[in-house]
Amino acid sequence: MKAKVTLDREFQIGKVDERLFGSFVEHLGRCVYGGIYEPGHPKADEKGFRSDVIELVRELGVSIVRYPGGNFVSQYDWEDGIGPKEKRPRRLDLAWKAVEPNTFGIDEFADWCAAAETEPLVTFNLGTRGIQAARDLVEYCNHPSGSYWSDLRKANGHPDPHGVRTWCLGNEMDGPWQVGHKTAHEYGRLANEVAKAVRAYDDSYELVACGSSNGNMPTFPEWDRVVLEQCYDAVDYISLHVYYGNRDNDTPRFLARSLEMERQIQTVIATCDYVQSSKRGKKRIDLSFDEWNVWFHSNLADREIEPWIVGPPQLQDVYTMEDALVVGCMLNTLIRHADRVKIACLAQLVNVIPLIMTEDGGPAWRQTIFYPFLHASMHGRGTAMRTAVECPRYDAKDFEGVPVLDTSAVMGEDGAVTLFAVNRGAETLEVDVAARGLVEKGARIEHTVLAHDDLKGANTKAAPENVVPADAKPVKADGSRVTVKVSGYSWNVIRIIPG
Ligand code: AHR
Repeated sequence: MKAKVTLDREFQIGKVDERLFGSFVEHLGRCVYGGIYEPGHPKADEKGFRSDVIELVRELGVSIVRYPGGNFVSQYDWEDGIGPKEKRPRRLDLAWKAVEPNTFGIDEFADWCAAAETEPLVTFNLGTRGIQAARDLVEYCNHPSGSYWSDLRKANGHPDPHGVRTWCLGNEMDGPWQVGHKTAHEYGRLANEVAKAVRAYDDSYELVACGSSNGNMPTFPEWDRVVLEQCYDAVDYISLHVYYGNRDNDTPRFLARSLEMERQIQTVIATCDYVQSSKRGKKRIDLSFDEWNVWFHSNLADREIEPWIVGPPQLQDVYTMEDALVVGCMLNTLIRHADRVKIACLAQLVNVIPLIMTEDGGPAWRQTIFYPFLHASMHGRGTAMRTAVECPRYDAKDFEGVPVLDTSAVMGEDGAVTLFAVNRGAETLEVDVAARGLVEKGARIEHTVLAHDDLKGANTKAAPENVVPADAKPVKADGSRVTVKVSGYSWNVIRIIPG
């Protein structure tokens, strides 16, 4: 089977915001306790941070990390997590039915971000709390000194402000499962007032309002419209979340699910632009896709977990080759919308629906989905380019005319062009790539492939390198015209690098 991809210097979508390669750390399961923080682990540093995990996070080039939730945040008192650790209270976490020891809080998170070379994205609790807790947290984090909260941060051993620039105004407030769930009117008003208070301190901060929890919510996209009508002037972004699963083991359908993500993004853009027009607004609201991933493997096991313990083994999805393909298609979708999606967080970073898995006291390893994220983060920075694709299509349950080849492309600052491509089908595709006006003759071609004989193949502690990328050779290369073989069910990174 054959396919053709045409890229052209004129087909520019827009600059990729580097925050597209973000992730998420929630006080949930073993993400914090036993994930990024494990005092006593042989590889823990003096602050209790696992250095093996930090190395993997740096390898991924994670640009921004959302924290501390998630559902957790909607009932969290951030003040519990500051000051001498022995004095911090143990609390019940109602969102995940666990015990929160509070030995890791906002100061530890800021230190961890510095060590991991990433930026913090902090979420306010707008479930049980509101304006006061949010404005105090901003003062604690960012005011240099000379006020109650900034002096307390200094007394707690952090003389320099944490410099948080981007804040989420709550989490999934449309969801009935959320502690402090609200109607769109209630939430939109609150978000507006919190945003105004935060802006009174620093108008340059970037603020994310809660959009719908997913595109299947009965209130989608009406929630988003009503919320934006309340807080349009005070916010910069609206959030989107989505998770896909393959519960009925229907691979063609599972691999097509990113088309739903495409539709979700288009709908939210239309909603933002509708509100902008109705307000005769000058400002454009952009999108923060601050939770996205595959999530289903752990659903049944999670029902058996004992409640009210610290760091329960929740949401420990072990990802397969097939999941990596879906993640690849989702990354392509985000890059294709780089003109409007400015922040995206793969949920989550460690142990909880994670890129990285760890064992308490033991090793850390890369899950299958680590690799598409790594490649996109490494080579997806620059200008997103439209791809004109001719390829076979297939029908699946709920989907018609699914392109077998799913792509995105980015031109880097150095002039190198990277094409990301997922083959959603079982058969090898011979793909002709023409990069018109992009790379002169004498280009070097690199082709990296993630594929495996078994679509259910995974990386585990016993076999951490079962599914890993390999180099491939192009069939033909003549300057900016390249022919590559794209094997069935594979993730591909094809780079045309100026000579
Ligand atoms: O990422 C896991 C959970 O998924 C988050 O806590 C919540 O926001 C979403 O429903």
